Amino acid sequence: MSSIRFIMLSLGMGFLGVYTLLSIGCSKGETQNPAGVGQQSTEQILPVHLDENPPGPYAVFLTRILEEAEIPPALARHIQEVAAEGPAFLMDLLAVLEGDPYLRVLVDKEHALAAGYEPEDLVDLTRGSYQVNRQGLKLRRAAELALEAMAAAAQADGVTLTVSSAYRSYAYQETVYTRNVRESGQETADQESARPGHSQHQLGLVVDFGSIDDAFAETRAGRWIADQAHLFGWSLSYPQGYEALTGYRWESWHYRYVGRELSYFIDTYFNGIQQYALRFIYQWEKAGGL
Ligand code: DAL
Ligand code: ZN
Repeated sequence: MSSIRFIMLSLGMGFLGVYTLLSIGCSKGETQNPAGVGQQSTEQILPVHLDENPPGPYAVFLTRILEEAEIPPALARHIQEVAAEGPAFLMDLLAVLEGDPYLRVLVDKEHALAAGYEPEDLVDLTRGSYQVNRQGLKLRRAAELALEAMAAAAQADGVTLTVSSAYRSYAYQETVYTRNVRESGQETADQESARPGHSQHQLGLVVDFGSIDDAFAETRAGRWIADQAHLFGWSLSYPQGYEALTGYRWESWHYRYVGRELSYFIDTYFNGIQQYALRFIYQWEKAGGL
């Protein structure tokens, strides 16, 4: 056996252990194993071998998930190619799946949080490096820590980050959405404001920065965040040019804390488009993982 083959087999054995744990952990009691991994030899798992005929179980599963997540064909092909080159894609995905599930939960026009969902570890935004536009703003603890770290780095560059909106309860989002409908009409409101249960703000992981309008993108803070936020685990939720995908207008000010692993995963494999990555992960976990 060549040493490369031995390394691939060893990696494969390690993956199998992790996959087993993963499928138990992520399928909430189900032991569904859609790709049939575990009944296959490790040699069939790595690498993907897209041109293999017939394709191996990992390639089949990956293709299915990319289709179910409606990832555009060119991007899906790119991901398949990267995944075929080595274990990095899977390892990076596993790192994401080990994290807090709320960092990756899909909350969009089709996927809602329970009305009663309220994070347990909300903290007040009272620390020094960022400013707040009003009192009483809250975030989950991990998001506040990452905000403070980011704001301190911005401050070192002479940039002040200002928080204008953060955690919003279901009830508060109902007030915000209703007001938007009253002031702008249903159609415009639905492009700018999430219906209650459908707002990422309910996660306690989102910040609206600065002026909450298009002018923010061209401020020093707006440019600094656009460039640096991903390094601190923050991700732009509603990018310009993806209005049809997200269902919302471009919001240069709305950043979701997803953690370093997921922000890296979004940037590295999904062109920085959070919605694609979250949809992929949603379908992956729905299928029970490998
Ligand atoms: N403005 C975003 C879509 C929200 O209301 O959550
Ligand atoms: Zn927002």
